[in-house]
Amino acid sequence: MKKLLIANWKMQLTHNEACTWLETELPSVLETLSHTEHELVICPSYTMLPYATSLYEDLAWGAQDCGFEEKGSYTGDISVLSLKDLGITYTLVGHSERRHYHAESDELISLKASLLLKHTIHPVVCIGETLGQIHTRRSIIQEQLAQILPLYHEHDRGIIAYEPVWAIGTGIVPSHEELADVLSIIREIMGNATYLLLYGGSVQETQAKLLSPLVDGFLIGASSLRSEELKKIILSC
Ligand code: PGA
Repeated sequence: MKKLLIANWKMQLTHNEACTWLETELPSVLETLSHTEHELVICPSYTMLPYATSLYEDLAWGAQDCGFEEKGSYTGDISVLSLKDLGITYTLVGHSERRHYHAESDELISLKASLLLKHTIHPVVCIGETLGQIHTRRSIIQEQLAQILPLYHEHDRGIIAYEPVWAIGTGIVPSHEELADVLSIIREIMGNATYLLLYGGSVQETQAKLLSPLVDGFLIGASSLRSEELKKIILSC
């Protein structure tokens, strides 16, 4: 079944390293991808996007974040309009690293998601609890989705990535049963909205195989930069 696989490169590579990766690793990844129905989206650093989008126009490209206004005095922010100009079709918002290091609130995240929807870019809204919030997971998720809910009822191009913070970069992944449980909470909260639901957090081949029947795809961090691992993930879901 067709899955959406989103590679989150974070700030792991310099510009030159990322260029080398695209030139040397990506062709074989695309070859593997061509044997499947899956869609691959790569989210490199902003600085990489003009080059990346000109290099492989057939591939979908994503940004890791965006500004919450279209234009104006927002030093350091990148406008959704610029992303649109470059042909970006997906953008992550509310990643736990943005929530943690940049104190991004649910309100700010929903402003970004709304702007992306307005400009027909798929927002990938990341949600998930920390280890300390596991027992209050339902209310945390409910809070994170409260302002996304009306947007996703209005538009049908939204994406939710459930990424428990305790699973990101740790090698620890929720069990099939635990993930099924959380996903049903998310689906219950979202009601009859139309959206794709992804899982993210330490995704590797084994987890992809096990968890793929539960989700519409994966948000992949570290494994997305190891091309052999990425190919295995592509083939296993
Ligand atoms: P990870 O990162 O796959 O390295 O755990 C996922 C993410 O943070 O999106």
